[in-house]
Amino acid sequence: MMEFLRSRRTYRRFAQRAVAPEILTEAVDAARIASCGANRQTVRYCIVESPAAVAAVQPLVHWAAYLPREQGTPQPDEQPTAFIAILQDDRLPGANDVDIGLALGSLTAAAWAHGVGSCIMGAIDRPALTKLLGLPEGLRLCYMVALGYPTHESHLVEIQDGSVKYYLDENRNYCVPKRGMEEILIKTL
Ligand SMILES: Cc1cc2nc3c(=O)[nH]c(=O)nc-3n(C[C@H](O)[C@H](O)[C@H](O)COP(=O)(O)O)c2cc1C
Repeated sequence: MMEFLRSRRTYRRFAQRAVAPEILTEAVDAARIASCGANRQTVRYCIVESPAAVAAVQPLVHWAAYLPREQGTPQPDEQPTAFIAILQDDRLPGANDVDIGLALGSLTAAAWAHGVGSCIMGAIDRPALTKLLGLPEGLRLCYMVALGYPTHESHLVEIQDGSVKYYLDENRNYCVPKRGMEEILIKTL
């Protein structure tokens, strides 16, 4: 499990090979059964998988804010091949961000179990995507998840000088600094 979690990272460059529809559906199914407050199940999903729809979404999401555009934004031949929109049904009571987070964790893990890498995306053009997806009134777009078969690696590295900024190494693989256990595990008693 720890090996799986270490490699289940954010991926931002992908092979131009479609992800099977069953894998995308299974990822949503994993999110569907995630724990949620009072079991209210207010999160909804929208799979974007046709090449035309995926191409229409691509300009409406923003990549890797810590990197110069030429490093962090996928080139035309590196784009994700699917997206899943994460929505909240505001017509139901109890919508909350923890439920979204748990759903995202399960969804991206279920995809990664098939070798499908992902990038959770909050820097998105919500009005334009809401229109493009044709979302009905009451469904609020929260995040997009980009998906595809990664063409790079991503490594966890020790944090240097307190910087949380990810960077690329000489092979254009991502290096993602994480705070150490001694920093995050607070010992009181
Ligand atoms: C809520 C959330 C929003 C994010 N939004 C974006 C985004 O808009 N664009 C992007 O390239 N990455 C985005 N990311 C990916 C983060 O940058 C990434 O998770 C972080 O750098 C740590 O890398 P890791 O996922 O490999 O641990 C987002 C991640 C989360 C959890």
